[in-house]
Amino acid sequence: MSKQKNIIRRRKGIEHIHSPDEQIPFEFLDAEYGVYKDNLKEWANELFIKQRFPKKGSITEDELKKIESFFNSRKAEFPEGTSALLPTLNDIKKNFGVIYQEYMEKLSQLFGVSPAYVLGVASFYTMLHGFDGKAEIYVCNSLPCYLKGSEKILESFRKKAPEDVEVREWVCLGRCEFAPVVHIPYTEKSFGNVEEEDVDKIIEIAKEACPWKKNREK
Ligand code: FES
Repeated sequence: MSKQKNIIRRRKGIEHIHSPDEQIPFEFLDAEYGVYKDNLKEWANELFIKQRFPKKGSITEDELKKIESFFNSRKAEFPEGTSALLPTLNDIKKNFGVIYQEYMEKLSQLFGVSPAYVLGVASFYTMLHGFDGKAEIYVCNSLPCYLKGSEKILESFRKKAPEDVEVREWVCLGRCEFAPVVHIPYTEKSFGNVEEEDVDKIIEIAKEACPWKKNREK
């Protein structure tokens, strides 16, 4: 009964999406958009972006050189306007694990745009968000994986992950035939038909394979 009521309210919200009074309240989204509820709630919070794109305090010569070299090679590949911005951000994330505000300032100078423009692009793509340089694990919780028990897998990852591993609830990873699927971002490592007993092993692999962890340890 209450589910039916929710569906009617959702439709009403979408019809009147331009009127703030009529928009869907976040508490309501939980019920129907279960797998996205965390993201949607967090996106409404300004702190959320500041935590994922924090200030570093200072930037070293080495970091500057690396950012410039990423910029130069991507610019050679994609010379038009700001076309190289996204691939450059991707290189930075892969190398450092976090795109600090100072890195974005440097990019804004290189591309001749405002830092807000760079943040606008970076924050849109959740794979570019950073977690203090922790290794990351994506656990798909979209419908096919959900139907094959991904909620339990996700819970198990969250319970077992150590401090230096960030477990992220993810949307379809494109390998639904192997549901439930888990992926270690910025590596070739994807795991299908994952069961709770695989969780410890995958956490170990994530720590080992994470590209920015390796770079930081150098
Ligand atoms: S739904 Fe999980 S990989 Fe597609």
